[in-house]
Amino acid sequence: SKPEILMPKAMRDIVLNGLEARFTLHKPYEAADGGEAISASSAGVRGLAVLGTRIDAAYLDKFPYLEIVSNFGVGYDNIDAEACGARGIMVTNTPDVLTEEVADTAIGLLIMTVRELSAAERWLRDGNWSGKGPFPLTKASLKDRTLGIVGLGRIGKAIASRAEAFGLKVHYHGRNQQAGVTYPYHATLKGLAETVDTLMLVAPGGDETRHMINAEILKALGPTGILINIGRGTVVDELALIDALSNGTIHAAGLDVFENEPHVPEALMALPNAVLLPHVGSASVSTRDAMGQLVVDNLVSWFETGKAITPVAETAAVTRRS
Ligand code: GLV
Ligand code: GLV
Repeated sequence: SKPEILMPKAMRDIVLNGLEARFTLHKPYEAADGGEAISASSAGVRGLAVLGTRIDAAYLDKFPYLEIVSNFGVGYDNIDAEACGARGIMVTNTPDVLTEEVADTAIGLLIMTVRELSAAERWLRDGNWSGKGPFPLTKASLKDRTLGIVGLGRIGKAIASRAEAFGLKVHYHGRNQQAGVTYPYHATLKGLAETVDTLMLVAPGGDETRHMINAEILKALGPTGILINIGRGTVVDELALIDALSNGTIHAAGLDVFENEPHVPEALMALPNAVLLPHVGSASVSTRDAMGQLVVDNLVSWFETGKAITPVAETAAVTRRS
């Protein structure tokens, strides 16, 4: 019989159709209770297809036969991957297919922030050009900036090569210096923030990176500083950032991610020197379809060959028991 897969929340058709063609699919979100009581009918579930759902030890307890969690998204801070690994459960994510899209969004957001393009556009649409024109000159330019990348993985490197094409110098910080990477490395985040005038956050979420960007780091970045966050909102202490933007501790920020999405603090909304995007880093039809296909392909590959295509580091050593 076909393996049973459970999808806690609705996902795009490419995932839905791909899974229904190969598996017995449970869709608890269609139930009257919105999927609260998923345990009874789904005890035999062997795979999960997940978009944002928090998968912790208590959630795993509901599925004694679970073998694999296939996550939609490259970030998987919603999943306790260590708990999965300890139970011999594979976790997969969707790297690579979104790298170029997210890097494009990151550079777009950087330019919007430096050149105040969204404010200029709002100003034009509000009818100001003929009356009050011209739009005030921006204090910052992209030229001659030094970009400090926090998290030089696949996406960070794609951002770095784009930044170099714009003439920026690139530095980076991460847990380790990388062999074969010639960009100057900073062992501490504070050292990076003191050296560069632009910080690009591409770090994953989770406890290790929570509030890495705090008042001290923002002070080190300084009054011409620009902060861009395309990774996870939890990396930034949002209250400290609001403070730094209000007081001129840094010049501006561009954010695609927030601490409590989709909640964006009113104080942030009110700041003219913040550019705010609704987590659109990978949000094109072609990229979201490629991510969805990879969610399906990881499950198909696992049940057909016993191997996942894109396992996450914490579960890379997990092998299929049966
Ligand atoms: C889910 O399938 C999405 O594209 O958000
Ligand atoms: C999106 O935020 C992702 O992690 O893919």
